This record gives sequence, structure tokens and C-alpha cells, in this order.
Amino acid sequence: MDYQAVLEEVAAHARPYVGQGQVADYIPALERVSADRFGIAVADIHGAVYGVGDWEVPFSVQSISKAFSLALVMAQSHGSQGGDGNHGAPGGNRAPGGPGADDIWKRVGREPSGTPFNSLVQLEAENGIPRNPFINAGALVVTDRLQTLTGDASTSMLHFLREESGNPDLAFDQAVADSEAEHGDRNAALAHFMASFGNLENPVPSVIQHYFWQCSIEMSCRDLAVAGGFLARHGLRADGSRLLDAREAKRINAVMLTCGTYDAAGEFAYRVGLPAKSGVGGGIIAVIPGRCTLCVWSPGLDARGNSVAGAAALDHFTTLTGWSVF
Ligand code: DON
Repeated sequence: MDYQAVLEEVAAHARPYVGQGQVADYIPALERVSADRFGIAVADIHGAVYGVGDWEVPFSVQSISKAFSLALVMAQSHGSQGGDGNHGAPGGNRAPGGPGADDIWKRVGREPSGTPFNSLVQLEAENGIPRNPFINAGALVVTDRLQTLTGDASTSMLHFLREESGNPDLAFDQAVADSEAEHGDRNAALAHFMASFGNLENPVPSVIQHYFWQCSIEMSCRDLAVAGGFLARHGLRADGSRLLDAREAKRINAVMLTCGTYDAAGEFAYRVGLPAKSGVGGGIIAVIPGRCTLCVWSPGLDARGNSVAGAAALDHFTTLTGWSVF
């Protein structure tokens, strides 16, 4: 496969969609990004990386972090995170897939919500258990678990992402984190509501702060495609060490397919046919198990919070290559 040629064709196809949609403004600091940006990168399972357009420009990962925080909680739960030791390791030395690895699923479901990513409505009828880890409520539970496992959820995430991406310069965007905290009433409400059901282990202010920080991390398409490589390698990192067992990687990919693009997950599966996770910064990562991980970025969002040009690009990528999971 000539990835570079495919990416160039995909970028040309997506060009008319760039600038369509709305740049997220409910977090005011995100609004400063220009809508005409577009980048796409592919990292194959052997470590080669290709890109077109603004593929090396950092942007706010926002909800894409939710896929990585779930992976880190799974890794921490069986103590196979390895690496530089900065993730903290109170998860112990249980084997992948062993006791502990499934604990998170007692506190968060794995069904699509069919509601917007920041919706409160299902929580009351469902005893404070969010539908899945990729809506905001579910991600707050995952962050809470990570806080318990590591003692510093957002720093653990930053170190994890630096290591998986191979980019030691990754950092939080303090202005974005502060801006989200200032306008964070909805997430605070979700967290307090879940706490009232006993579904948080840590104080609400600390959970939401770590969540805002992890959403504020800035990464490029290159960084994200490389960092998500373990999802295409059935849980193996680039150096061959194991982060997750194959079953865990399959599970994350499955939940990405069914829940990663919120109430547009059905439409996304129909158009693109890949596990994917979007963020309101305009990024989307997508996984082709056994082949490669993609990341596309363009800040204009549709009404459900997914990048318009990004979705068009991924749609065209799977059409050109025939590489959807279906
Ligand atoms: O909590 C929020 O609203 C943002 N930090 C993240 C939302 C997000 O990226 C949803 N994605 N489409």
C-alpha cells in the first residue's frame, strides 16, 4: 500500500469539507484555532509514519484522551504498563486479563448512549452508571479510577502519551484546561450526580480537574497515530512489549466502534466502518486492527461534535483502500 499517495488523495477529497461546521466554542480557549486546518497521518504497525497537510501541528486532544485513559486504567489494573515508572503502579502485578482488569466495567457500561456526549439524562434512571467510557460521564469514572490507581491521573496520562507517541515534549495546555474549568458546570454536575450514587472514589473537584487537564493535552496527528499503535497491534507497543492483552485491545476497539463518536456512532460505522474516537478539538483517531492507526484533524465540527472534514477523509480512506473492518 502506498500510504503517502492514498493520504494525498484522501486530503484532496476532504478539501471541500475543510472549514465546514463549527469550531467548538463552549470551551472558549478552543475557539482561537483556525477552521481551515487539515492534517492526516497513518502509523503502520511496523513503525512507519506518513502524513499530509497539518499532520505535525499540535491540537487539543479533548475526548480522544478517553480512549487512552481507558487503556491506561486497563494496563494499570494488571500492572503491565511498564515504561518509565512514572505512571505509578499501585495496580500490582496481576496478569493481563486477570483479576482487577475487569473492575472498571462494574462502574461503567459499554453500550452506545444515543445521547449527546455531555448528557445527564440516562444517569438518574441507571443508578449513576454511565452508558460507556467515552461519553463525558463515563470518562469521569475512568479518570476517577486512574486517580485511585496512580495518585495523579493527568500526569500519568501525560507520561503515558509521551511514551507511546515517542514525543517527550507533549504538554498540557493550561489555558484550555483553565477555560474548561471556568465553563465546567456541566461536567461538575455529572460528577456530583455520580458521586451521589457512590460511583466516584475521589473528591469531585479533583476528578474534574484531572479530567480537564487530560483533555487539554496537545498532540499532533503524528503523535496520536503513533500513540494509538497498540490498538492496531492487538495490545503490543512499538518495541514489542505488551501494554494490553489482545482481548483488552479488542474490547477498546469494539467500544470505540460502538461509542467513540457518540450519538453518531451508527452513522460513523456506516460511513467509515472503523473503531474511532473523536474530540471537540477536531481530531479523530481510527484503528485498522493488524494494519495501522490513523489520525485526522480539522476543527470544524458537525452538530454531534465530530470533525466534518475528518469524517469525510476517513470515509474516503476506507473506500479507497477497502480496509474497513466490515
Ligand atoms: O468535557 C468536555 O466537554 C470536553 N473536554 C471534551 C468533549 C469532547 O471532546 C467530546 N467530543 N466530541
